[in-house]
Amino acid sequence: MLVLALETSCDDTCAAVVEDAEIRSNVISSQAAAHERYGGIVPEVASRHHVELVNPVIEAALREAGARLGEVDRVAVTRGPGLIGALLVGVATAKAIAAATRKPLAGVDHLHGHVAANFLAPDPLDPPFLCLVASGGHTLLAGVREHGGFETLGQTLDDAAGEALDKGARLLGLGFPGGPAIERLAREGDPGAFPFPAAMREDPRLDFSFSGLKTALLYAIRALPDGELERRRADLAASYQEAIVAQLASKLERALDAGEWRAVALGGGVAANGRLRERAAEICEARGLRLKLVPGQLCTDNAAMIGSAARFLEAAPYPDYLRWDAWA
Ligand code: KG4
Ligand code: ZN
Repeated sequence: MLVLALETSCDDTCAAVVEDAEIRSNVISSQAAAHERYGGIVPEVASRHHVELVNPVIEAALREAGARLGEVDRVAVTRGPGLIGALLVGVATAKAIAAATRKPLAGVDHLHGHVAANFLAPDPLDPPFLCLVASGGHTLLAGVREHGGFETLGQTLDDAAGEALDKGARLLGLGFPGGPAIERLAREGDPGAFPFPAAMREDPRLDFSFSGLKTALLYAIRALPDGELERRRADLAASYQEAIVAQLASKLERALDAGEWRAVALGGGVAANGRLRERAAEICEARGLRLKLVPGQLCTDNAAMIGSAARFLEAAPYPDYLRWDAWA
């Protein structure tokens, strides 16, 4: 099955061609530079960039795949969740392409896409497995028992892990996106230098909470004597990253304690984090479980993962999808 997939839920304009589990092309046009000066994503700016970029990105995806639109079996698009204006650009474009060629259209849940990145070659992981999804908008533990969906076993009660990293980076005066900036700086710092609270550790549920950690970082910065921030920035970054990874790791362990899962996967932008990958590897090795780690490019937003999810969904025939909306 040849799928042309679009993903425009946030600030990356993405198109991919996926043939069964194989990625034939995966084009990502990052808007990070356009948002950097605002220190975060400005939804209206993102929508306008998507409008400009979506057609060239689709053309590039088809060209790189060596595929013609006529050969595509189905079109796929992220319908939500995400920024509504950004999503609508992808949904409208996908509808137009599918309708003009009378092809079926599959609407994909963005989080299912992050899970489905693990179904891609090489070495695809088949259900059942437990997937920790941590991105800029979501943090959850997904029980994956079939290719077509997942069950949410626990999720964040406030901020997402990536959001906590982005906001923390901002407090530390680092660039956007914050996750990679914190990871880089953390390599030069001491993760034990600042004792940040181990939130939710004792809570028996599989839910997460990161907003208190962000406040703790703010207080730690305020408590520094004048001029000290520069000298302690790497220690703060390392300690903050460690606290976020520790919470993700402890909930992962708790979810594995019942012994139901034999394989573990990670998904979402934060899954690109080296320290999180290292902790997940330790946890899985200690328990004799298989750990699937996709390359960082498939952790952060991309359309190949949307095409991967779409393989396992029912696509709507023309013209049923013309009334589709996106959901924020
Ligand atoms: O999945 P994603 O690309 O978009 C959303 O669906 O939100 O995730 C973006 C998030 C951002 O918060 C970014 O700071 C974080 O993933 N991120 C990282 C790394 N790369 C991206 N966090 C930690 N370490 C990284 N290397
Ligand atoms: Zn995402």
